[in-house]
Amino acid sequence: MVQLSQALAAILLATGIVAHPGGNTNREILRRQAHLDHPNRRSIQSCKRDLVASGWVREQHQRREARLHELRVAAGFAKAHELVRRDPAEVEANYGVEAACTLDPESTEGPYWVSGELIREDLLTGEKGAITHLDVNIIDTSGCKPVTDAYVELWGSNATGVYTGVQAKGNGDGSATAIKTNALRGLQLTGSNGTAKFITVIPGHYVGRTNHLHTIVHHGAKLLPNNTIQGGTISHVGQFYIDQNFLGQVEKTSPYNVNKQAVTTNSADPLFNMAKQGGDDPVLKISLIGNKIEDGLYATIDVGVNPKARQNPQAVNAWTANGGVPIPNSPWAGYPDSCRYCGFRPPKEKKDVLVEE
Ligand SMILES: *[C@@H]1O[C@H](CO)[C@@H](O)[C@H](O)[C@H]1NC(C)=O
Ligand SMILES: *[C@@H]1O[C@H](CO)[C@@H](O)[C@H](O)[C@H]1NC(C)=O
Ligand SMILES: *[C@@H]1O[C@H](CO)[C@@H](O)[C@H](O)[C@H]1NC(C)=O
Repeated sequence: MVQLSQALAAILLATGIVAHPGGNTNREILRRQAHLDHPNRRSIQSCKRDLVASGWVREQHQRREARLHELRVAAGFAKAHELVRRDPAEVEANYGVEAACTLDPESTEGPYWVSGELIREDLLTGEKGAITHLDVNIIDTSGCKPVTDAYVELWGSNATGVYTGVQAKGNGDGSATAIKTNALRGLQLTGSNGTAKFITVIPGHYVGRTNHLHTIVHHGAKLLPNNTIQGGTISHVGQFYIDQNFLGQVEKTSPYNVNKQAVTTNSADPLFNMAKQGGDDPVLKISLIGNKIEDGLYATIDVGVNPKARQNPQAVNAWTANGGVPIPNSPWAGYPDSCRYCGFRPPKEKKDVLVEE
């Protein structure tokens, strides 16, 4: 139970229901506000001193420099001996000040989470777009240490704004084939440095939403013989975004430039604006591997979680050997017309809004 600020409640009442294919905005805003108001909430910023003192910031930065260099060498854009390192003292001083250094934007899973996805680094499965090597770093903000044994789940729409594993009227062109593939979805275990590595594409925009990736952080899950996980708990449900100027360049490249869905920019996306509040920065830090976007990208983001937190996201489908299969009674089933999570229940009183979850 959380008190919603009077100002926010007034905005919600004034704008009414903002239905869009990324989920019900009002429900999502309420959920985000509940997270921001939570007394135990801590951002990575509050860990800065500890992370610098323990050497984590320096090590992490050097690993990233080396990783980007490795990708450049592999793609033929640099020679092995050409690695130039930035002054680590400057990196430490700027940690948490520069873009994309802090993140804790607890957000909605949205209507297109498909559970039961495979553990794998390369999520492409034939999808085209701005290929992105993404390192997601999970930090325990209660102890200011990397989280070493969490399964990080990642999913995003394809370059033209369609999700795999689901069929829904609001999912791009309503494609009936996308449900048969698990492209751009998967999980990775965080290594000794707290990093989960993925290869995916910069997601496309779709009606009502700016380009974003979804993430869920699982703890204590059991690895099954078929390379999926079962059980455990979920501490974090979030979304990652991309700098708007950079997005503008990506959207001009193929195949993004044939996406016919209406554009929503970051600043026009209520979820993006909510995600930036409270000292959080949900924007990926992206470097070109070569000279242009088509040469590939290296992206990183730090995600602060409290491993003891319990979130309860709801999947619409489960991934099986036969493709995406609806989960009975999912509150997202029937999206966008008839699901339990589709409708917004208006607050009963103006200033005390009770939020579930
Ligand atoms: C995205 O997925 C839809 C549905 O499967 C497909 O029609 C479209 O071609 C895909 N976009 C790209 C860029 O491949
Ligand atoms: C983190 O450690 C894993 C092995 O545990 C390694 O594969 C990965 O490259 C490291 N990440 C970075 C950014 O160096
Ligand atoms: C993996 O195994 C679980 C447990 O038997 C099963 O429910 C799930 O459908 C399987 N997933 C795939 C993709 O085969």
